[in-house]
Amino acid sequence: MPASSDSSSGSASAPVTICVIGSGYVGLVAAVCFAEMGHRVLCVDNNEAKVAQLQRGEAPIYEEHLPEMLARHLNHGVTFTTDLAAAIRPAEAVFIAVGTPQGSSGAADLSYVEAVVSQIAQAMNGYKVLVEKSTVPVYTNEWITRCMHRHGVASDQFDIVSNPEFLREGTAIGDFLHPDRIVVGANNDRSADLLRRIYAPLTTGGYYHQPNALPGPCSADQPAKLVVTSAQSAEIIKHASNAFLALKISFINAVSNLAEAVDANIEDIALGMGLDARIGPRFLRAGLGYGGSCFPKDVAAFSWVAEQQGIDFHLLDEVRKINDRQLDLFFDKIRSALWTLRGKKIAAFGLAFKSDTDDTRDSPAIALIRRLLDAGVHVAATDPAAIEAAQRVLPASGALTYTDDPYAAAEDADAVVILTEWCQFATLDLNRLNRALKFPIVIDGRNLYSPDVMRDHGFTYVSVGRPAVYASTQGRPRKTPL
Ligand code: NAD
Ligand code: UDX
Repeated sequence: MPASSDSSSGSASAPVTICVIGSGYVGLVAAVCFAEMGHRVLCVDNNEAKVAQLQRGEAPIYEEHLPEMLARHLNHGVTFTTDLAAAIRPAEAVFIAVGTPQGSSGAADLSYVEAVVSQIAQAMNGYKVLVEKSTVPVYTNEWITRCMHRHGVASDQFDIVSNPEFLREGTAIGDFLHPDRIVVGANNDRSADLLRRIYAPLTTGGYYHQPNALPGPCSADQPAKLVVTSAQSAEIIKHASNAFLALKISFINAVSNLAEAVDANIEDIALGMGLDARIGPRFLRAGLGYGGSCFPKDVAAFSWVAEQQGIDFHLLDEVRKINDRQLDLFFDKIRSALWTLRGKKIAAFGLAFKSDTDDTRDSPAIALIRRLLDAGVHVAATDPAAIEAAQRVLPASGALTYTDDPYAAAEDADAVVILTEWCQFATLDLNRLNRALKFPIVIDGRNLYSPDVMRDHGFTYVSVGRPAVYASTQGRPRKTPL
């Protein structure tokens, strides 16, 4: 089927009974948003504790709008269960939203997807559309088909559709209900039409007419666009999009190193580049590099896909190398600002892989703190949302303490390092911070402050891709002589 784009199709507005398997960042957000769009949703997870929490109406993740939306639809539009077979039987569409982590070869580990497909096959009771919501390599649709056949399910009983998810953590609900685009990779009209029906409230604009609709960039006049492609193309669209965004970040980070070498300013450079409409300003923030549960593994998985097909795509290896190097360079900056590290106390501002989330998976902040601890540093870490998650991977110890108060973390520290771009860290009381620190040194991996402002507040301030500024020792009594 050739690619087509529409923003008004979706003939019927009849609610669809949907089963979503996996209630993590993607599955839970999709389930609640489908309910918000008027569908009946059964959301399954094999984590009993998580399902019990959801049944009590408690959101297991930190995500804007999720608690209210969960409260609005719990036990009306959406129910949660561990019983996969019971949830599948009434469903017309089954969304698979389980994890696809990175395997040892770099390839996506599809064992969770395969386990779920086997369970679906055993619970089939009539025609259903199986939807790949998880990020998967190209041809996964064919593997799912084969797996269904192996379990004795006839071809006329199911179709596979790829419907990749582009939400970002922290803005997941808004991204889902106001998407830049909805991609549907379907190999026939029957299955594509069911997906059109599911997304009709967004593509016809019906949802945005509702008085309590979540406000955002889409509207009744400018509804969401839905693009129909083949399943293979849709699978590639997801990997290629994430790889391209990661590339954009690595590109600006490489330029930031050049800027630093010649005393230029990466923020001015990114502004000047981003004003070109062909480039655009987004994803041009230089810093510690990208992290999270998607970019690192998706770049690796896409690279593996290319290698399997004999395609030279070494560009992706460079994207990863630049990203890894960015953390090394930042660590070197800390060392050169503090001379030696063993026995020093550093306040680490940030644990989550980015702001507005409690997710610490593949967080550059966690990786950096590990290195500091290995170097004998005492770390006082703070984060507005991710302390609990961080403690699970880096338990508190004699060398590592956690506090939710950044000023307490900074108390008597030799320096602050800024690791996550939370607005709370961009709006600190700089005089108070200066007074708390033993030495007024801030090493900023997210470029949250203007160097001039930091110098005016008496700080030595080292950031990414911009000239460092140094505090004058006059005018500020030091707690300990240098
Ligand atoms: P997650 O780890 O937060 O959630 C996965 C959930 O699936 C878990 O709750 C787990 O208990 C459940 N699960 C695993 N096996 C199961 C089974 N057999 N039956 C029922 N439940 C099962 O993962 P996530 O971040 O939501 O990501 C899911 C997929 O979506 C991945 O492929 C990811 O790459 C993709 N994706 C993630 C994001 C994101 O921002 N997190 C965005 C777009 C796409
Ligand atoms: C990403 C994709 O953006 C989203 O479309 C996909 O569905 C899932 O993966 P997410 O991982 O939630 O979303 O976060 P994102 O906002 O993309 O940031 C990823 C990482 O890149 C973070 O560590 C962030 O700090 C970093 N980043 C982002 C930069 O370093 N510079 C930027 O300009 C943008």
